[in-house]
Amino acid sequence: MNVSTDLKNRLRKKILASKKYRESGLNGNTIADLIGQEASRISSEKELLKAVRRKLHNIVAPYLGQPDYDSYTERLNRINDVSLTSPELREFCLDVLREHASTAERIPFMDAFYRELFRQAGHPAIILDLACGLHPLAFPWMELPLTTRYHAYDIIQPRIDFINHFFSKIGLAPLAENKDILVAPPQIQADLGFFLKEAHRFEKRGSGCNRRFWQNIHVDTLAVSLPTNDLSGFHSLTEYHRRLVHENLPDGQDILEVEFTNELVFLIKIKSEDHHAQK
Ligand SMILES: C[S@@+](CC[C@H](N)C(=O)[O-])C[C@H]1O[C@@H](n2cnc3c(N)ncnc32)[C@H](O)[C@@H]1O
Repeated sequence: MNVSTDLKNRLRKKILASKKYRESGLNGNTIADLIGQEASRISSEKELLKAVRRKLHNIVAPYLGQPDYDSYTERLNRINDVSLTSPELREFCLDVLREHASTAERIPFMDAFYRELFRQAGHPAIILDLACGLHPLAFPWMELPLTTRYHAYDIIQPRIDFINHFFSKIGLAPLAENKDILVAPPQIQADLGFFLKEAHRFEKRGSGCNRRFWQNIHVDTLAVSLPTNDLSGFHSLTEYHRRLVHENLPDGQDILEVEFTNELVFLIKIKSEDHHAQK
């Protein structure tokens, strides 16, 4: 089906005005991209709208249960000691991290997680946190200096505003951005990219899209992680996810696996010539 700019805008507005997404602050480029993608195999406007809604649901619905950012912001503003070791600040961060399953599950082994990743990949001065969710709130456990350039990307505006407020409050540069990283991969040169627990969902957005995406990111090491079990906790996904990563691996890249309780991290050393030429 041919989609005119007019139709694209109309459908995008319709979805953004719907009850489910009205208050989400969802990035419109994500919807436009899905419309373009689905239009190639669908012939009616009604079916197109349905298909885009379905895809969108898979991408963002599990993480739309928004924490109450206003009350978290007020609570953060009342914290006197915002140093990275402050018990009050850490308790606050833990409460926020508990709001999403992906970050909540990591809490029991956060210290070991960053220690081991940085031992393998080096301590990063510039980070890209790709599809970050609430993960930037784990910064106090990374034991990195406040000079770190922490670029965080998500497609939900209130989440980005909250993360930037948190960054400013603790003394980090507010570098979170509302950006669909598949539509426009960040072009910043960084030491480490976190791409945690999202590659399997990206694969549902478009088969093989991880490969293209990983090739377009300029980092020395890309840390791609995936859950080792499904949500019931009973079925192992390790082999399935290992295959997903290896099938999407850009040619000739080295890879190292580090396993934590329920999260398997693949450290991919990016060594493309283009990438090094830029350094
Ligand atoms: C599983 S959660 C975050 C997980 C987080 N990386 C972690 O493991 O701690 C996925 C997040 O990715 C965001 N997201 C999904 N697709 C995205 C895209 N194309 N660009 C940027 N962010 C995206 C969602 O809004 C959601 O907040």
